[in-house]
Amino acid sequence: MKRYKVVLLSGDGIGPEISEISINILKRLSQKYDFDIEIKEKYFGGIAYEKHNDPAPKETLDQCKASDAVLLACVGDVKYDNLPRELRPESGLLKLRAALNLFANIRPVKIRKSLLDSSSLKKEVIENVDLIVVRELIGGIYFGQPRGQITNTKVKKGFNTMVYDSKEIERITEVAIKIAKNRSKKICSVDKSNVLEVSQLWRDTVSEVALKENDLTLSNMYVDNAAMQLVKEPSQFDVILTSNLFGDILSDLAAMITGSIGMLPSASLSSSGPGVFEPVHGSAPDIAGKNIANPIAMALSTSMMLKIGLNEIEAADDIEIAIDNVLSKGYRTSDLDNGNCKVLSCSEIGEKIIQEI
Ligand code: IPM
Ligand code: MG
Repeated sequence: MKRYKVVLLSGDGIGPEISEISINILKRLSQKYDFDIEIKEKYFGGIAYEKHNDPAPKETLDQCKASDAVLLACVGDVKYDNLPRELRPESGLLKLRAALNLFANIRPVKIRKSLLDSSSLKKEVIENVDLIVVRELIGGIYFGQPRGQITNTKVKKGFNTMVYDSKEIERITEVAIKIAKNRSKKICSVDKSNVLEVSQLWRDTVSEVALKENDLTLSNMYVDNAAMQLVKEPSQFDVILTSNLFGDILSDLAAMITGSIGMLPSASLSSSGPGVFEPVHGSAPDIAGKNIANPIAMALSTSMMLKIGLNEIEAADDIEIAIDNVLSKGYRTSDLDNGNCKVLSCSEIGEKIIQEI
């Protein structure tokens, strides 16, 4: 029997509610496909700050490093916004990404047929959307030095550094190429090279690497235009390759094409070692504890974990199919309520998904 060690970081806000459902899905699938999955839950984010005064305690990071895969829900709460930056839940997340060397963040944006009417964009605009954002995750302005504030002067200053070296750009480009080769062999690299030197290096390096592949089409787009094109004609994109900050912004934008940010999963990967699988959405403290959150992005992240992290392809596909079945029967959480569906709670949607497996 195959045995897997998974670390679950349910984090803050709606995290525990949506994690509960993924635990039950994994239990069901392990019975169905006869694998053993040991799920160790660890403190991470705001809750870890409360318990250990550190949003990413060493013990949690060590357990993650020793696992086969990490399933993460979400972190953060307004109540931590005034903490020193290094103690904030978001800093814990960045620490985890850096500690596991998760330089490649994969965010698939797929339209579910039964949700065609849930998007704020017109059905004709979104119906053929199937794209993947490949976001560099441990470089760029998120990590660049120097950074800080100078506040002991009359006029205060804040600064960050957007920096990439060619090695960092090459390795993320290679990930995008690998993904594109299994799809339509089209990559659009997004930058701001009309203004930023770092983006010029990005564009030159991506082009150089992509040029070595003869069956690949590379296009380049400025990030402002990419934001516009994603709303105007999102189906023109297949693989979008971009840097940390631009990927953060564009992936939220792209998420809304699907109807709700509660639908988008992601995988953060290194070249070897465990990946972290997490929804793109945040911890939604405003609805935490109300049992109304949408657990689908977390369930789809669980599917990505099974597929990419554990190579349990059939089990992974089962989750996707179950979700499509539940949606096509008209069941929704309230974020997807179009006035014409059966609105269920987070746990009820979870039960429906499990019934379909
Ligand atoms: C994301 C999130 C994080 C990011 C935050 C929570 C630090 O927005 O994963 O997109 O900016 O990377
Ligand atoms: Mg984000």
